[in-house]
Amino acid sequence: MSNFEQKINDLDLSLFERIESQSVDEDKRSLLSCQSAVRELVPKYKYLEIGSYLGGSIQPHLLDDRCAKIYSIDKRPLRQPDERGVDYTYLNNSTERMMELLKDVAPDNMSKITTIDGDTGEISTDEVADKIDLCFIDGEHTDYAALRDFKFCLDVLNENGAILFHDAVITYNGIADCIEYLKKKKIKFRAYNLPAIVFAVEIGDFPMHKNSNVLERLLNNHVGYLFSLQYNDYYRQFANKTPFRMYRKFMIKWKGLNKFE
Ligand SMILES: C[S@@+](CC[C@H](N)C(=O)[O-])C[C@H]1O[C@@H](n2cnc3c(N)ncnc32)[C@H](O)[C@@H]1O
Repeated sequence: MSNFEQKINDLDLSLFERIESQSVDEDKRSLLSCQSAVRELVPKYKYLEIGSYLGGSIQPHLLDDRCAKIYSIDKRPLRQPDERGVDYTYLNNSTERMMELLKDVAPDNMSKITTIDGDTGEISTDEVADKIDLCFIDGEHTDYAALRDFKFCLDVLNENGAILFHDAVITYNGIADCIEYLKKKKIKFRAYNLPAIVFAVEIGDFPMHKNSNVLERLLNNHVGYLFSLQYNDYYRQFANKTPFRMYRKFMIKWKGLNKFE
Protein backbone atom coordinates (compact mmCIF):
# COMPACT_ATOMS: atom_id res chain seq x y z
CA MET A 1 0.00 0.00 0.00
CA SER A 2 1.41 3.40 -0.95
CA ASN A 3 2.01 6.10 1.58
CA PHE A 4 -0.89 8.09 0.13
CA GLU A 5 -3.28 5.12 0.36
CA GLN A 6 -2.30 4.49 3.96
CA LYS A 7 -2.94 8.14 4.76
CA ILE A 8 -6.33 8.33 3.09
CA ASN A 9 -7.49 5.08 4.68
CA ASP A 10 -6.42 6.50 8.05
CA LEU A 11 -8.18 9.83 7.30
CA ASP A 12 -4.85 11.46 7.99
CA LEU A 13 -5.29 15.24 8.17
CA SER A 14 -1.75 15.81 6.95
CA LEU A 15 -3.26 15.45 3.46
CA PHE A 16 -4.65 18.94 4.08
CA GLU A 17 -1.54 20.39 5.70
CA ARG A 18 -0.01 22.42 2.87
CA ILE A 19 -2.89 24.83 2.19
CA GLU A 20 -5.30 25.97 4.85
CA SER A 21 -8.80 24.74 4.08
CA GLN A 22 -11.90 26.55 5.26
CA SER A 23 -13.29 23.56 7.11
CA VAL A 24 -13.04 22.03 10.57
CA ASP A 25 -11.19 18.76 11.15
CA GLU A 26 -14.39 16.68 11.22
CA ASP A 27 -15.29 18.03 7.76
CA LYS A 28 -11.83 17.20 6.47
CA ARG A 29 -12.19 13.62 7.74
CA SER A 30 -15.59 13.33 6.06
CA LEU A 31 -14.18 14.69 2.80
CA LEU A 32 -11.33 12.17 2.96
CA SER A 33 -13.84 9.37 3.69
CA CYS A 34 -15.84 10.27 0.59
CA GLN A 35 -12.67 10.54 -1.48
CA SER A 36 -11.55 7.08 -0.31
CA ALA A 37 -15.00 5.71 -1.24
CA VAL A 38 -14.97 7.32 -4.68
CA ARG A 39 -11.44 6.15 -5.52
CA GLU A 40 -12.58 2.60 -4.70
CA LEU A 41 -15.71 2.89 -6.84
CA VAL A 42 -14.03 4.66 -9.79
CA PRO A 43 -10.28 4.05 -10.01
CA LYS A 44 -9.72 7.03 -12.37
CA TYR A 45 -12.28 9.39 -10.89
CA LYS A 46 -12.93 13.00 -11.94
CA TYR A 47 -13.56 15.70 -9.36
CA LEU A 48 -15.24 19.09 -9.67
CA GLU A 49 -15.59 21.71 -7.01
CA ILE A 50 -17.42 25.02 -6.87
CA GLY A 51 -15.67 27.44 -4.53
CA SER A 52 -11.97 26.70 -4.17
CA TYR A 53 -10.48 29.85 -2.61
CA LEU A 54 -6.82 28.91 -1.93
CA GLY A 55 -7.18 25.30 -3.04
CA GLY A 56 -7.43 23.78 0.45
CA SER A 57 -10.08 21.26 -0.53
CA ILE A 58 -8.38 20.47 -3.86
CA GLN A 59 -5.06 19.36 -2.35
CA PRO A 60 -5.97 15.75 -1.36
CA HIS A 61 -7.32 15.14 -4.88
CA LEU A 62 -4.25 16.70 -6.46
CA LEU A 63 -2.09 14.29 -4.48
CA ASP A 64 -4.24 11.29 -5.44
CA ASP A 65 -3.00 9.30 -8.45
CA ARG A 66 -6.46 7.83 -8.83
CA CYS A 67 -7.89 11.30 -9.45
CA ALA A 68 -7.60 11.81 -13.21
CA LYS A 69 -9.04 15.31 -13.51
CA ILE A 70 -9.94 18.30 -11.34
CA TYR A 71 -12.25 21.17 -12.28
CA SER A 72 -12.28 24.23 -10.05
CA ILE A 73 -15.10 26.74 -10.60
CA ASP A 74 -14.78 29.97 -8.63
CA LYS A 75 -16.26 33.39 -9.30
CA ARG A 76 -13.90 35.07 -6.82
CA PRO A 77 -16.01 38.13 -6.02
CA LEU A 78 -14.61 40.54 -3.43
CA ARG A 79 -17.76 40.13 -1.35
CA GLN A 80 -20.07 37.18 -1.33
CA PRO A 81 -23.64 37.15 0.00
CA ASP A 82 -24.40 34.62 2.71
CA GLU A 83 -27.59 33.20 4.19
CA ARG A 84 -26.41 34.27 7.68
CA GLY A 85 -27.24 37.82 6.65
CA VAL A 86 -23.71 39.24 6.47
CA ASP A 87 -21.61 39.51 3.30
CA TYR A 88 -18.20 37.82 3.55
CA THR A 89 -15.11 39.49 2.08
CA TYR A 90 -12.23 37.56 0.50
CA LEU A 91 -9.14 39.68 -0.12
CA ASN A 92 -6.44 38.66 -2.61
CA ASN A 93 -8.65 35.87 -3.88
CA SER A 94 -7.30 34.90 -7.29
CA THR A 95 -6.87 31.79 -9.41
CA GLU A 96 -3.16 32.63 -9.85
CA ARG A 97 -2.62 32.65 -6.09
CA MET A 98 -4.41 29.30 -5.74
CA MET A 99 -2.39 27.72 -8.54
CA GLU A 100 0.88 28.93 -7.01
CA LEU A 101 -0.04 27.33 -3.69
CA LEU A 102 -1.14 24.08 -5.35
CA LYS A 103 2.11 23.93 -7.30
CA ASP A 104 3.89 23.53 -3.97
CA VAL A 105 1.66 20.57 -3.08
CA ALA A 106 2.22 18.43 -6.17
CA PRO A 107 4.07 20.21 -9.01
CA ASP A 108 3.93 17.17 -11.30
CA ASN A 109 0.15 16.87 -11.11
CA MET A 110 -0.82 20.42 -12.04
CA SER A 111 -1.82 19.47 -15.59
CA LYS A 112 -4.92 17.71 -14.29
CA ILE A 113 -6.45 20.96 -13.02
CA THR A 114 -8.77 23.11 -15.12
CA THR A 115 -9.95 26.37 -13.57
CA ILE A 116 -13.07 28.22 -14.62
CA ASP A 117 -13.63 31.76 -13.36
CA GLY A 118 -17.32 32.49 -12.96
CA ASP A 119 -20.42 31.06 -11.41
CA THR A 120 -22.70 28.30 -12.56
CA GLY A 121 -25.34 30.84 -13.56
CA GLU A 122 -23.06 32.31 -16.23
CA ILE A 123 -20.91 29.45 -17.46
CA SER A 124 -21.94 26.60 -19.73
CA THR A 125 -21.75 22.93 -18.77
CA ASP A 126 -19.85 22.53 -22.08
CA GLU A 127 -16.83 24.03 -20.31
CA VAL A 128 -16.64 20.80 -18.34
CA ALA A 129 -15.34 18.38 -20.95
CA ASP A 130 -15.56 15.25 -18.78
CA LYS A 131 -18.26 13.39 -16.93
CA ILE A 132 -17.67 13.94 -13.23
CA ASP A 133 -17.78 11.34 -10.45
CA LEU A 134 -17.56 13.58 -7.38
CA CYS A 135 -18.67 17.21 -6.97
CA PHE A 136 -18.10 19.46 -3.98
CA ILE A 137 -20.23 22.61 -3.56
CA ASP A 138 -18.59 25.27 -1.39
CA GLY A 139 -19.13 28.54 -3.28
CA GLU A 140 -21.70 31.21 -2.49
CA HIS A 141 -23.45 30.24 0.74
CA THR A 142 -27.00 31.13 -0.18
CA ASP A 143 -29.97 28.83 -0.67
CA TYR A 144 -30.41 30.14 -4.20
CA ALA A 145 -26.80 29.40 -5.19
CA ALA A 146 -26.89 25.96 -3.52
CA LEU A 147 -29.76 24.86 -5.79
CA ARG A 148 -28.23 26.48 -8.89
CA ASP A 149 -24.83 24.86 -8.24
CA PHE A 150 -26.49 21.52 -7.53
CA LYS A 151 -28.37 21.55 -10.86
CA PHE A 152 -25.12 22.35 -12.65
CA CYS A 153 -23.40 19.45 -10.89
CA LEU A 154 -26.24 17.10 -11.82
CA ASP A 155 -25.80 18.09 -15.46
CA VAL A 156 -22.09 17.30 -15.52
CA LEU A 157 -22.24 14.25 -13.24
CA ASN A 158 -21.83 10.72 -14.50
CA GLU A 159 -24.95 8.56 -14.45
CA ASN A 160 -23.76 7.40 -11.02
CA GLY A 161 -21.83 9.80 -8.81
CA ALA A 162 -21.93 11.92 -5.69
CA ILE A 163 -22.44 15.58 -4.85
CA LEU A 164 -21.23 16.97 -1.53
CA PHE A 165 -22.16 20.26 0.09
CA HIS A 166 -20.07 22.03 2.66
CA ASP A 167 -21.72 24.24 5.30
CA ALA A 168 -25.05 22.44 5.17
CA VAL A 169 -25.80 24.20 8.44
CA ILE A 170 -26.06 27.47 6.47
CA THR A 171 -27.62 26.42 3.14
CA TYR A 172 -30.00 23.76 4.52
CA ASN A 173 -33.06 25.32 2.88
CA GLY A 174 -31.31 25.28 -0.50
CA ILE A 175 -30.29 21.67 0.10
CA ALA A 176 -33.90 20.82 0.95
CA ASP A 177 -34.87 22.35 -2.42
CA CYS A 178 -32.26 20.11 -4.10
CA ILE A 179 -33.82 17.04 -2.49
CA GLU A 180 -37.29 18.14 -3.64
CA TYR A 181 -35.88 18.64 -7.13
CA LEU A 182 -34.52 15.08 -7.20
CA LYS A 183 -37.88 13.71 -6.06
CA LYS A 184 -39.75 15.77 -8.64
CA LYS A 185 -37.44 14.57 -11.42
CA LYS A 186 -37.66 10.98 -10.11
CA ILE A 187 -33.87 10.77 -9.90
CA LYS A 188 -32.68 7.88 -7.73
CA PHE A 189 -30.68 9.13 -4.77
CA ARG A 190 -29.57 8.62 -1.17
CA ALA A 191 -28.69 11.61 1.01
CA TYR A 192 -27.13 11.95 4.43
CA ASN A 193 -25.21 14.28 6.67
CA LEU A 194 -21.60 13.60 7.60
CA PRO A 195 -19.81 15.28 10.50
CA ALA A 196 -19.51 18.09 11.03
CA ILE A 197 -21.42 19.90 8.28
CA VAL A 198 -20.91 17.95 5.06
CA PHE A 199 -24.07 16.85 3.28
CA ALA A 200 -23.68 13.97 0.83
CA VAL A 201 -26.00 13.03 -2.03
CA GLU A 202 -25.38 9.76 -3.86
CA ILE A 203 -26.94 9.86 -7.31
CA GLY A 204 -28.04 6.68 -9.07
CA ASP A 205 -26.15 3.61 -7.96
CA PHE A 206 -23.12 5.02 -6.16
CA PRO A 207 -22.83 3.32 -2.75
CA MET A 208 -20.27 5.59 -1.16
CA HIS A 209 -21.87 4.70 2.20
CA LYS A 210 -20.51 1.13 1.97
CA ASN A 211 -16.98 2.41 2.47
CA SER A 212 -16.07 1.59 6.08
CA ASN A 213 -14.91 5.13 6.87
CA VAL A 214 -18.07 6.71 5.48
CA LEU A 215 -20.28 4.11 7.20
CA GLU A 216 -18.63 4.66 10.57
CA ARG A 217 -19.16 8.41 10.32
CA LEU A 218 -22.69 7.95 9.07
CA LEU A 219 -23.67 5.69 11.97
CA ASN A 220 -22.15 8.07 14.50
CA ASN A 221 -24.45 10.78 13.27
CA HIS A 222 -24.68 12.39 16.70
CA VAL A 223 -21.49 14.32 15.85
CA GLY A 224 -22.94 16.22 12.90
CA TYR A 225 -26.41 16.45 14.42
CA LEU A 226 -25.26 18.05 17.66
CA PHE A 227 -22.65 20.23 15.97
CA SER A 228 -25.28 21.62 13.57
CA LEU A 229 -27.86 22.35 16.27
CA GLN A 230 -25.29 23.98 18.52
CA TYR A 231 -23.89 26.00 15.61
CA ASN A 232 -27.34 27.51 15.06
CA ASP A 233 -28.13 27.86 18.78
CA TYR A 234 -27.06 31.49 18.51
CA TYR A 235 -30.38 32.21 16.84
CA ARG A 236 -32.37 30.62 19.70
CA GLN A 237 -30.36 32.59 22.22
CA PHE A 238 -31.14 35.74 20.26
CA ALA A 239 -34.84 34.87 20.01
CA ASN A 240 -34.88 34.35 23.80
CA LYS A 241 -33.61 37.84 24.59
CA THR A 242 -36.24 39.64 26.67
CA PRO A 243 -38.14 41.73 24.09
CA PHE A 244 -38.33 38.90 21.55
CA ARG A 245 -39.26 36.36 24.23
CA MET A 246 -42.03 38.65 25.51
CA TYR A 247 -43.36 39.08 21.98
CA ARG A 248 -43.32 35.32 21.34
CA LYS A 249 -44.91 34.66 24.72
CA PHE A 250 -47.70 37.08 23.89
CA MET A 251 -48.26 35.64 20.41
CA ILE A 252 -48.26 32.04 21.61
CA LYS A 253 -50.70 32.86 24.41
CA TRP A 254 -52.89 34.90 22.08
CA LYS A 255 -53.07 32.05 19.56
CA GLY A 256 -53.49 29.50 22.35
CA LEU A 257 -50.56 27.48 21.05
CA ASN A 258 -49.31 26.67 24.58
CA LYS A 259 -52.45 24.78 25.64
CA PHE A 260 -52.92 21.05 25.23
CA GLU A 261 -56.12 19.23 26.02
C1 LIG B 1 -15.60 29.00 1.57
S1 LIG B 1 -14.57 29.44 0.23
C2 LIG B 1 -14.09 27.88 -0.41
C3 LIG B 1 -13.16 27.16 0.49
C4 LIG B 1 -12.49 25.94 -0.07
N1 LIG B 1 -13.42 24.99 -0.63
C5 LIG B 1 -11.67 25.30 1.02
O1 LIG B 1 -12.09 24.26 1.55
O2 LIG B 1 -10.65 25.87 1.39
C6 LIG B 1 -15.74 30.03 -0.89
C7 LIG B 1 -15.24 30.33 -2.28
O3 LIG B 1 -16.40 30.46 -3.10
C8 LIG B 1 -16.15 31.44 -4.07
N2 LIG B 1 -17.43 31.97 -4.56
C9 LIG B 1 -18.18 32.98 -4.04
N3 LIG B 1 -19.30 33.15 -4.76
C10 LIG B 1 -19.26 32.22 -5.74
C11 LIG B 1 -20.12 31.90 -6.79
N4 LIG B 1 -21.29 32.55 -6.99
N5 LIG B 1 -19.78 30.88 -7.64
C12 LIG B 1 -18.60 30.21 -7.45
N6 LIG B 1 -17.74 30.48 -6.46
C13 LIG B 1 -18.06 31.48 -5.62
C14 LIG B 1 -15.32 32.47 -3.34
O4 LIG B 1 -14.57 33.20 -4.29
C15 LIG B 1 -14.46 31.61 -2.44
O5 LIG B 1 -13.21 31.35 -3.05
